[in-house]
Amino acid sequence: MRKIRKAVLPVAGLGTRVLPATKAMPKEMLPVFDRPAIQYVVDEAFAAGIEHVVFVTGRNKGAIEDYFDTAYELEITLREKGKTDILEALESSRPTPGSMSFVRQQAPLGLGHAIWCARDIVGDEPFAVLLPDVLVQAKSGCLSQMVDVYAETGGNIIAVEQVPPSEVDKYGVISPSSRNGNRILMNGMVEKPAVGAAPSNLAITGRYILQASVFGYLADQASGAGGEIQLTDAMARQMASEDFHAVEYDGQSYDCGSKLGYLRATIAYALQHEQLGGDAARILAEFTRPPE
Ligand code: UTP
Repeated sequence: MRKIRKAVLPVAGLGTRVLPATKAMPKEMLPVFDRPAIQYVVDEAFAAGIEHVVFVTGRNKGAIEDYFDTAYELEITLREKGKTDILEALESSRPTPGSMSFVRQQAPLGLGHAIWCARDIVGDEPFAVLLPDVLVQAKSGCLSQMVDVYAETGGNIIAVEQVPPSEVDKYGVISPSSRNGNRILMNGMVEKPAVGAAPSNLAITGRYILQASVFGYLADQASGAGGEIQLTDAMARQMASEDFHAVEYDGQSYDCGSKLGYLRATIAYALQHEQLGGDAARILAEFTRPPE
């Protein structure tokens, strides 16, 4: 079985739900406590054994490319001032040279179209997709858990989590056919089903392992929900001839694409911070203490 070496991170969306914060700055660069959201997702990918990250970018996303580059003047200044601890933290977040590629999606035609834009760089091998506006806190990263399942099942893997049945219309939802522990063999999926008509309350979380054959389905995929070319629709066609397993992963997800999800993520990551978590909890308590 071929190792999952490459991960595609689509970052070409407009981030309209978190405007005006994203008017002049990519959504993925919004800080979640002490680092940009994208850093957590790239860390999750490399921790799962990914060797190469492909960003699908759009207009106004140059800050992402700069963030993963050397900040030459800043680093010289830090060195001259003897601020070695900060310098080391910066250096440790810099990727190995050559381990990132950037390709443009010229118009935001949908997630499926964004993934298709990475086809030449990915080539003919299975790959991971991580949606960078979804952060997952987990002891073992969400993608690592999926890679472990993939090593046994092969095929295509989708991360899922249970959501309240009244909220299924906000998500892509899977149709399960059988379950073995946290692994679910799937027989379908649907994007944003009406409440009451969903095949389950297992929502797709924003992490995928896909066979390269998906690019063939994406190439002629018609527009779906919201007039966009949907990854879910292409995967649903791919499923007619390939196995898809869902993994109900162990962890907590945060949707940084919405204002309240972003707030929740910021609080969660502040509280979990190794050095500053205790202070963060004290500050939060000041705001939540009932008035005397
Ligand atoms: P979203 O729909 O959550 O992101 O897409 P968005 O379009 O930026 O958000 P809103 O709805 O306007 O607030 C999920 C992921 O797919 C990427 C987004 O960047 C995000 O990471 N995406 C979406 C693309 O790269 N291209 C697209 O055409 C659409």
